[in-house]
Amino acid sequence: MPAPANTRITIPRPDDWHLHLRDGDALNAVLPDTARRFARAIVMPNLKPPIRTLDDAAGYRERILAALKANRDAAKLSDDGSNFAPLMTLYLTPETTPDMVSAAAASEFVHGIKLYPAGATTNSDAGVNNLDAMSPVFEAMEREGLVLQIHGEVTDTDVDVFDREHIFIERHLNPIVERFAGLKIVFEHITTRDAAEFVAAAPDTVAATLTPQHLLMNRNAIFVGGIRPHNYCLPVLKREEHRAALLRAVTAKDQTKFFIGTDSAPHATHTKETSCGCAGIYSSHGGVEFYAEVFDAADALLAASGDVDSRFVNFMSRNGPAFYGLPVNAETLTIEKVDRPVPESLEFGEHTLTPLRAGESLAWRLVD
Ligand code: DOR
Ligand code: ZN
Repeated sequence: MPAPANTRITIPRPDDWHLHLRDGDALNAVLPDTARRFARAIVMPNLKPPIRTLDDAAGYRERILAALKANRDAAKLSDDGSNFAPLMTLYLTPETTPDMVSAAAASEFVHGIKLYPAGATTNSDAGVNNLDAMSPVFEAMEREGLVLQIHGEVTDTDVDVFDREHIFIERHLNPIVERFAGLKIVFEHITTRDAAEFVAAAPDTVAATLTPQHLLMNRNAIFVGGIRPHNYCLPVLKREEHRAALLRAVTAKDQTKFFIGTDSAPHATHTKETSCGCAGIYSSHGGVEFYAEVFDAADALLAASGDVDSRFVNFMSRNGPAFYGLPVNAETLTIEKVDRPVPESLEFGEHTLTPLRAGESLAWRLVD
């Protein structure tokens, strides 16, 4: 049974394990949505130019911390903005070296290196084509305990867009997992039954993040009544049978391998409503609430006792920290089941942004 209206749920403050914060005005526009909900977020490095080095990451982190201070009222933060921490990542390029891995691992603030197959998605041109050549880097990451975050899609133009994830598993992911037995890997934003089954059966060194859109929607959502550019992201939404498999994976009892990662990826509205629109869905305005809807609809939000179902708590608040070797947050977050409208558009620097569910409503809201 779905939770009754006005139900309140309190969980350890979650973290967003996959987030695009952008830079400059865009960063200032979107950061409060994340900082109000999450204690920490893994910040993706696909800026232009990418965050390749420890120095790049240090500079980007400073800009995020400055934006936090500047927006602390909107984000409802402490005076120094200290109750949100950006966890930085580096962008894996053919020029990444084992020494760069060691330097990153020695820093307090870099928590992973992101692998984009070159050409797979937004700002991925600097990514890697030849994975075999990266072996010394993967060995160094294995040794240093640094997490490899993978955008798992092949980029071959002759491969059907809907098959790119499962073919990546066979061709690239499985060989990496077998060869680097100690390497911690997050298979990011998984979208298929193949990926969910692969991760569930893989060693404990392999985990996956799941976005709200891939749990809430199937590929019909891109085409209902006309083309829907705001439901376009990469990896692209898949068939209903895949959504159902993702749902089973995240709601399996005592599962430890699947956790939240919104992949909230803002693009100005005009760059999506065009003849060649950008990939990315903005969801940070409901970064916790969308997942509550998912678990509520699957009857996995409230236990029979009326307490919060441990499956929701584990997915939102426990599995991610455990995988990254970080403590569960001591603070809590409370949400309440009350319908609220989602605006048609949000401010995005000098442009606008169209959020997920724009013009419709969300079933949950934050309780301050
Ligand atoms: O849809 C996406 N948007 N997928 C990605 O992998 C990147 C992201 C972005 O940065 O816009
Ligand atoms: Zn992403």
